[in-house]
Amino acid sequence: MTTPTFTPRVFSGIQPSGGLTLGNYLGAIKRFVSMQDEAFETIYCMVDLHAITVWQDPADLRRNTRELAAGFIASGISPEKSILINQSQVPEHAQLAWIFNCVARMGWMKRMTQFKDKAGKNAEAASLGLFGYPTLMAADILIYHATHVPVGEDQKQHLELTRDIAAKFNHDYGVDFFPLTEPVIEGAATRVMSLRDGSKKMSKSDPSDASRINMTDDADTLAKKIRKAKTDPDALPSEAAGLADRPEARNLVNIYAALNDQSVEEVLREVGGQQFGTFKPLLAELAVTKLSPISEEMARLMADPSEIDRILSRGAGQAREITAPILEKTYEIVGMVR
Ligand code: AMP
Ligand code: TRP
Repeated sequence: MTTPTFTPRVFSGIQPSGGLTLGNYLGAIKRFVSMQDEAFETIYCMVDLHAITVWQDPADLRRNTRELAAGFIASGISPEKSILINQSQVPEHAQLAWIFNCVARMGWMKRMTQFKDKAGKNAEAASLGLFGYPTLMAADILIYHATHVPVGEDQKQHLELTRDIAAKFNHDYGVDFFPLTEPVIEGAATRVMSLRDGSKKMSKSDPSDASRINMTDDADTLAKKIRKAKTDPDALPSEAAGLADRPEARNLVNIYAALNDQSVEEVLREVGGQQFGTFKPLLAELAVTKLSPISEEMARLMADPSEIDRILSRGAGQAREITAPILEKTYEIVGMVR
């Protein structure tokens, strides 16, 4: 069988389950923006169907979806260069997810660490959707035949599952229909940690607001959170190896490097030897310089949600030109009478 060549195409998504964090921005969105100027078609998605795997108040979900779209655009994602959508307006995602529910094996799904983390001790009370979450994610990607998926480190296992699903589908039906997607996990901050606990990832669902930087935080709040971030009493090292057992220090240096488009080594060459009392104000100033224009633009865009809705509606139309034929072909391969 000849291996088909797939159009270089990028897909990625973020859940509108709360505000955007610095983790989302450095781990994912910065890469979304740079890939849109490379030789890729790019599709970026607010995954509202994923968000409801845990309870969302309907009014909050609507506002968060629009705010996330504003965050994408304010960060530099252009609706002219990229297709911008919310997942529920492109029904082929959920339709392909059903097929993948019949391809993925229970044993594969039970190994997913994100489910174990999110369901916690009371897994019996978790929604079935939370358990099935990764097959919908595989469908998000493969309904576009996407070849590259930029994400943070925490999504690696889900992307491996996506490849397993594609390979099993291709094998079971004797086709070369779905591509084996490449994860793109790059940059100095693929895993931004909580400001309060260097062993926990920065997350929009952490109950402590002081643990994260929100893209909508104003300059004062931002500076205060950085000033109060947990650190150790030592000075910064001049080489990356000196950060190995210092998770909180490493996190702040990683954030600085990612915000300033530098490597960790370059940053340490400049700030090595400094105490946190000197470094934290530098970091705060850099964060304000880089993030304030984004939060101001988000606020401006949020003043006219109807424009955001128009962009998402247009995006859905463009997306369905890609997804509808791929779903039709999938149904044909599977043996559905059309
Ligand atoms: P989520 O907010 O869980 O929908 O995540 C959306 C994207 O942001 C995914 O690509 C995640 O890997 C990425 N992301 C979320 N939190 C972090 C973090 N603390 N550090 C790096 N990337 C993150
Ligand atoms: N699971 C991702 C997260 O929580 C969000 C997501 C859903 C996604 N579908 C996707 C990311 C497809 C990349 C590609 O971070």
